[in-house]
Amino acid sequence: MADRSGMKKGLTRYGDEGFALFLRKAFIKAMGYSDAALDRPIVGIADTFSGFNPCHRTAPDLVAAIKRGVAMAGGLAVEFPTVSLHESFAYPTSMLYRNLMAMDTEEMLGALPMDAAVMIGGCDKTVPAQLMAAASANVPSLIVVTGPMMTGDHKGERLGACTDCRRLWGLHRAGEIDEGEIEAIGGKLMPTAGTCMVMGTASTMACMTEALGMMLPGGAAIPAVMADRLRHAEASGARAVAMAKEKLTPDRIMTPQAFANALRVLLAIGGSTNGLIHITAVAGRLGIEVDLAAFDAMGRETPVLVDLKPSGAGYMEDLHKAGGLTTVLRELGELLHLDALTCSGKTLGENVADAPAGWAQDVVRPRTDPVYAEGGIAVLRGNLCPGSAIIKQSGASPELMRHSGRAVVFDSLEDLTARIDDPDLDVTADDVLVLRNAGPKGAPGMPESGYIPIPKKLAQQGVRDMVRISDARMSGTAFGSVVLHVCPEAAVGGPLALVRDGDTITLDVPARKLALEVPEDELAKRRAAWSPPETARAERGYKRLHLDQVSQADEGCDLDFLTQRPFTAKTPV
Ligand code: FES
Repeated sequence: MADRSGMKKGLTRYGDEGFALFLRKAFIKAMGYSDAALDRPIVGIADTFSGFNPCHRTAPDLVAAIKRGVAMAGGLAVEFPTVSLHESFAYPTSMLYRNLMAMDTEEMLGALPMDAAVMIGGCDKTVPAQLMAAASANVPSLIVVTGPMMTGDHKGERLGACTDCRRLWGLHRAGEIDEGEIEAIGGKLMPTAGTCMVMGTASTMACMTEALGMMLPGGAAIPAVMADRLRHAEASGARAVAMAKEKLTPDRIMTPQAFANALRVLLAIGGSTNGLIHITAVAGRLGIEVDLAAFDAMGRETPVLVDLKPSGAGYMEDLHKAGGLTTVLRELGELLHLDALTCSGKTLGENVADAPAGWAQDVVRPRTDPVYAEGGIAVLRGNLCPGSAIIKQSGASPELMRHSGRAVVFDSLEDLTARIDDPDLDVTADDVLVLRNAGPKGAPGMPESGYIPIPKKLAQQGVRDMVRISDARMSGTAFGSVVLHVCPEAAVGGPLALVRDGDTITLDVPARKLALEVPEDELAKRRAAWSPPETARAERGYKRLHLDQVSQADEGCDLDFLTQRPFTAKTPV
């Protein structure tokens, strides 16, 4: 059986291929298909609709539009379900399940008879999981995101999830917004279907995916409820049929140059710190290592151009009106690898050239007048983070970018919850809040708890920002002087585990330094006395697999056996 496409792909092993094909076709005819339909190229649609995922509420509409596009191009579309993850519905954190979704999606891409796939992503962890799956399964694939929500409003103020959720909750904690009003605001923050409409992780991953070449041009910023979103989905379905015929596999698109484009865009959009972890995991699936020193150097020459919250002022619908990611790509110009191939079948440069000419707008700034002079994310080194740590400098307070302070240490999330608002907590605004055992193994799952709340008594005095350090992550919608992803994490014995209340910690972002000002002989004594925390134990199931296998943040937090080692290439190049 030479032809292995369509229904003949990956025949179930009965020891008789003719029978396997006969039985498969007999079964699928129960769905009402004709032989003519079954002879077409098959495009799988990874349908991530879930009643627990409001960011994917429009998935059924997108499935219909993708199917229409596939049929128009002469293919047969067949949808299949996968794990779907929403940020607020996965306990203890959606990050724990990103790799599970990636495994599920990868296995279905390989197991089911499809010649190409369109994957419907959107909420934070879904797109990274799908890119990881596509990289490993290497089935021609592209991604359609559900798209961002429109903005809401409250008493004349424009609101967006979830930067304003956090900002207004902070005011509520400080006593400036009462119980009744914060409840009313809760009804206004998510006014439509779609993903968070600031430059949070979902928007960041959508933009990076388009820059990476795994999404058709223009797809990142179209709001979820606009008709253009459905036309984009239709075009993606049609393009998937062509990709199947061209055998345009992800390894031809996701090259070191393409990852460099995605990383450049991450910096230029003031994107989520999570984008770095996720793209590291995706690249690792292809044996490509993200070189953090090169990424930091790239950041020094890549200004933040996009004026969206949390680094700036606007929302994703504003970026869409300004021409979407194409406007950013056009402005970045020769800083990008414009010859990188994309899923459109054309290069990134050709995609930009094919787009309508730009127009006057104030959302995407020229490189000569950026929102922030450097890239959004800086990579830190020092004796507190030998592996690395990062800070979203574009969302931090300028006066705290060089700061020394006394450590106030929280040993776990439980400890943080129990003591942060204690009126007797010995803390001042100049102190450095430290949270540990909240990393990939420590929590487990590296929750978005790095945005340590300002202690209530300080918040009530008007303190809005402090230096905060942890081995956790932070929501892409959050802001502040927050050092994240300290590697190695405390739960595996990283130096964060050795910090004590009252130690001096120095942060120097311009020098890219994070130092624990304690003599090495004292640290050696503490290290000798250290023992692993009681957290992070699992006897069985997926959680045990995660704890046994998860890598550190600088390696993408993938399961170790899913990363393709040894690395054969580096990015950014
Ligand atoms: Fe889904 Fe923010 S919670 S994108």
